[in-house]
Amino acid sequence: MKKISVIAGNSNLKLAKDICEHLKVSVGQTICESFPGGEIHVQIKENIRGQDVFIVQPTCYPPNDSMMELFLLIDAARRASAARITAVVPYYGYARQDRKDRPRVPISAKLVANLISTAGADRILTMDLHAGQIQGFFDIPVDHLYSINVLTSYFKKKKIKDLIVVSPDVGGIKMARAYSKVLNSPFAIVDKQRQSAKKTKVMNVIGDIKDKNVVIVDDLISTGGSLVEAANALRANGAKDVYAAIVHPVLADPAVERIKKSILKEVIVTDSIPIPKNRKTSKIKVLSVAPLLAETIRRIHQNRSVSSLFARAGVEA
Ligand code: R5P
Repeated sequence: MKKISVIAGNSNLKLAKDICEHLKVSVGQTICESFPGGEIHVQIKENIRGQDVFIVQPTCYPPNDSMMELFLLIDAARRASAARITAVVPYYGYARQDRKDRPRVPISAKLVANLISTAGADRILTMDLHAGQIQGFFDIPVDHLYSINVLTSYFKKKKIKDLIVVSPDVGGIKMARAYSKVLNSPFAIVDKQRQSAKKTKVMNVIGDIKDKNVVIVDDLISTGGSLVEAANALRANGAKDVYAAIVHPVLADPAVERIKKSILKEVIVTDSIPIPKNRKTSKIKVLSVAPLLAETIRRIHQNRSVSSLFARAGVEA
């Protein structure tokens, strides 16, 4: 294969540019626009024949447009004779709809996987999937990255005493265990019940968090209900400072307002999803995963191991 070519849709151009800076290439020229009737039109403006093409497009807000842009860019790359196409989707939208938990509902995460493959992707590179099993929804190779080293390095530098890692729900135990291993601290669990898409209720706090400084870890923050409810319950049970390390800042309304008013000291997130200017607040700190994604892209291109990037992180790639 001749060379790496990185192209991007509109969903996170800044991340694509930052990845390219690390790879010392420039973002490929594309047109990605909407026709007056709402249809999306894309065009790759340079020759990618025989190249190893990486399409950077997290399927974040507006998720349906982001996804359509991704499908169209993959199709365009395939028809332009790319040698190999990797969909780089650091945030994989629709991931929470990953099973039939009620009658007559779709398994949307599986349908999205089918659509990415059908469009013509040869592989997918993603990060901190809501559920690791989603990898199995694909019949093409999946490289599943974890941002654990990026997020934990922040807390290591802070040298917080009496630190405890907390999962805001039972589904996040594996993630909390991995973080507690890297941070060399114990972990506890918040037993949460979801009452609606916007409302959650804490039932119990499992573990001793009294007089401890807490870092809540989660794969994503949407409306902020889970996080703020968990923070309140932890404080009510005697926790001191409460921080959060959340990979994907979906930040749907009213998450930012909730965080601002909350007892949370800091919320650390990655740049897998861009945060618009009007949603920025001093409480939310963004760490970049561009170096990690760039290194992974380099390794995929050179057919080198990706899992060795996680050798010491307590997780498997
Ligand atoms: C749940 O399983 C997820 O890991 C998140 O905790 C949850 O989806 C966040 O949603 P929200 O911010 O709306 O509570």
